[in-house]
Amino acid sequence: MSRTVYVNGAFLPESEGQVSIFDRGLLFSDAVYEVTAVLEGGLVDFDAHQARLQRSLGEMSIAFDPEAADLLGIHRELVKRNHLGEGLVYLQISRGEADRSFVQPKDGAPTLVLFTQAMSLANHPDAARGLRVMTGPDLRWHRRDIKTTQLLYPSMMKTAALEAGVDDVWMVENGFVTEGSSSNAHILTHDGRLITRHLSSDILGGITRAAVLAQAEETGLTVETRPFTVDEALAAREAFITSATAFVTPVIEIDGHSVGDGRPGPQVAALRRRYLEESRRRLQ
Ligand code: PDD
Repeated sequence: MSRTVYVNGAFLPESEGQVSIFDRGLLFSDAVYEVTAVLEGGLVDFDAHQARLQRSLGEMSIAFDPEAADLLGIHRELVKRNHLGEGLVYLQISRGEADRSFVQPKDGAPTLVLFTQAMSLANHPDAARGLRVMTGPDLRWHRRDIKTTQLLYPSMMKTAALEAGVDDVWMVENGFVTEGSSSNAHILTHDGRLITRHLSSDILGGITRAAVLAQAEETGLTVETRPFTVDEALAAREAFITSATAFVTPVIEIDGHSVGDGRPGPQVAALRRRYLEESRRRLQ
């Protein structure tokens, strides 16, 4: 069945959703994006995604005001028109169409595109099975705090991970883990600390990360925001990733070595349960 997508003010059949070949999103990855999960037909953490979008647009000086665009209304309408119970809404805003030039035009009209993808999220098998990751150097640009569509390197690494027979990559820089290909990375120590890299331009400030850290503190875990090494992760009791679509998913193996006993553990399972409960309570 054909989806309904959204392009610059119009809801259209997906075959009619078109963007110019001169769009700077296509030519320069001059675009920012958000991925918002949908559960039971409702949006997870919408306000936080909108706030981060606003920040990304500001950092890129793309002249688009999310608050004036009723993005919530557009998200809801797309979910409704596509009868989406569970999955995601993808939103992208590029600087728009202009003759190819390295100079960013100041007066362009941004291109706004949204589409849905149906996916099983809450009962995804990875949550029960756990992820096997390999490590690799983090060769991305150094403004990873901005959610741009410049995703070539993480896409290459994710593909390499699957070709190597594992599920994903944890990227490493100067000896410390930065992130997964499209997720934040965390560990839980034997003495009840949750260690996660502090916010900086080295990583994306994950919306799921922020929610899970707050919930972890409420359950009595001590949250320590600092870089950690792969050896620390291997010595941890449990490890996990967070993202809008993975929620909280255990990592059971790094470079062929088991984390903890090599199986998904109870604390990560509890964090996932709690995140899902809270998210379901606050759906928009
Ligand atoms: N990616 N770090 C990176 C590099 C990411 O691409 C993502 C999310 C995250 C987690 O952020 P959040 O919890 O806000 O989703 C961290 C999305 C899901 C994607 O590109 O599909």
